[in-house]
Amino acid sequence: MYKLIILLLCYIIFESCTHDPTFIMDVDPDPLDTMMVDTSMVDADCMSDDISFSDFIFPTLETFCISCHSGGYPSGGVSLDDYDAIFEHVESGRLIGSMNWESGFVNMPLGQPQLDDCILEKIESWINDGAQNN
Ligand code: HEC
Repeated sequence: MYKLIILLLCYIIFESCTHDPTFIMDVDPDPLDTMMVDTSMVDADCMSDDISFSDFIFPTLETFCISCHSGGYPSGGVSLDDYDAIFEHVESGRLIGSMNWESGFVNMPLGQPQLDDCILEKIESWINDGAQNN
C-alpha cells in the first residue's frame, strides 16, 4: 500500500515537472507589455499649447482625483480642491511626479491605469508655462 502511495507521489511530482515548460510558456514573454498603458485613446496630434486651468486642468483633476483628494481629510493629506491647493503640489513636484509614476512617488490615480499620454503632456505644458490660474 505504501509503495502505491509513493509511486503515486512520484507520478504527481513527475507530472508537475513535465508541466513546467507549459507554465513558463504561459508567462508573458515581455513583462513590459503588461505594464504598458492603453494608449488607444492618445490623440496623435495632442494639442498641448495654452492649456487653461479652468477649462482643462481643474476638470481633469475633478474627474480623476477629487473623489479621494477633497474635503476635510483628503487622502495622503493632499487636497486638490482649488487652485491654491493644487499649486502647492505643483511646486513640490508631487503632482506631476505621482501622475507620471516617477520613482519615489505613489502612483496616481491610485489603483487605476496611468492617465492618457496626451493628458499628461497637457498638464506638463501648463506647469512649464508657470502653472497659472488661467
Ligand atoms: C482612489 C483614491 C485616489 C485617487 C482616485 C487618487 N488618489 Fe492620490 N492618493 C491617494 C492616497 C490613499 C494617497 C496616499 C498614498 C500614500 O501615502 O501611500 C495619495 C497620495 C497622493 C499624492 C502624494 C504622493 C506622494 O508620493 O507624495 C499626490 C500628489 C496625489 N495623491 C495626487 C493625485 C492625483 C493628481 C490624482 C488624480 C490623477 C489622484 N491622486 C487620484 C488616493 C487617491
